[in-house]
Amino acid sequence: MNTETLLVCERVAIELAIAAGRMMSDAAGKRKEVREKESAIDLVTETDIAVERYLFGELRRQFPAHRFIGEEGTNGDGGGGQQSLTAEPTWIVDPIDGTTNFVHNFPFTCVSIGLTVGKEPVLGVVYCPFIDKLYTARKGMGATCNGRPIRVPPLSASRRLADALLITELGSHKDLDKQQAVLRNIEAIGWRSHGVRSFGSTAIQLCYLAEGYGDAFWHFGMHVWDIVAAGLVLIEAGGVVWDTRGGPINWLNRRVLAATSEQLAREVSAALTDHLEYEPDK
Ligand code: IPD
Ligand code: CA
Repeated sequence: MNTETLLVCERVAIELAIAAGRMMSDAAGKRKEVREKESAIDLVTETDIAVERYLFGELRRQFPAHRFIGEEGTNGDGGGGQQSLTAEPTWIVDPIDGTTNFVHNFPFTCVSIGLTVGKEPVLGVVYCPFIDKLYTARKGMGATCNGRPIRVPPLSASRRLADALLITELGSHKDLDKQQAVLRNIEAIGWRSHGVRSFGSTAIQLCYLAEGYGDAFWHFGMHVWDIVAAGLVLIEAGGVVWDTRGGPINWLNRRVLAATSEQLAREVSAALTDHLEYEPDK
């Protein structure tokens, strides 16, 4: 994809993310229709569906030759169903990352729009309407927040595990073995650091590392739409996005280890006791 086309994609994605943020703001504080998906803490509301339909409708209209993957599987063609990731230009959308937060009026929610080519992210746009932050990144061109370039601050990049602030999530695992593994990891690593925080949106947590809010993040069980746009924001800000075992991330494998430096990523990876396995995304 040439630079000019990528710039057009970025402009469209930013406009759509801001419009989607307005849809989220309009629904805020109102009674929501909430459905459970894979577990009692994996939720979807009518706004998730409406935002995804809107985004895919517009993206499909402007980029008919591209492919589309979204959390709610609406796919924008009215037919539903999920497309799989190929080397073709593919829009990967999470209409609301942090749906549980959205349901509880906790402000850390965002819309996440990524574009991959050759199965790697080339564009990421994450808009958080309730904290008014718009993160963007183009491959090789750096990352921004609200129009200003962002880099992982040197202070954050120089931290070691013993003085790092860590971020993770309990997640929405329904089986007991996985729930226990998540707790073993927190116990093994939490007491060796400055502390562990949890904001309930994987995308925002990756973007926060890019700004130097916290130093490392790990999570299991999330999907490609939770990480692909914000992962590029962090990479372009100079951070590291790996598999939890160390080494390159497979965006479909449902495991992420993110940090403000390679040294810290290595320390966190070595300190994790459990690397949970999931059926990969397609
Ligand atoms: C969830 C959030 C949350 C993470 C879950 C995700 P959703 O996304 O990113 O931080 O713990 O694993 O599923 O369902 O709110 O889009
Ligand atoms: Ca979601």
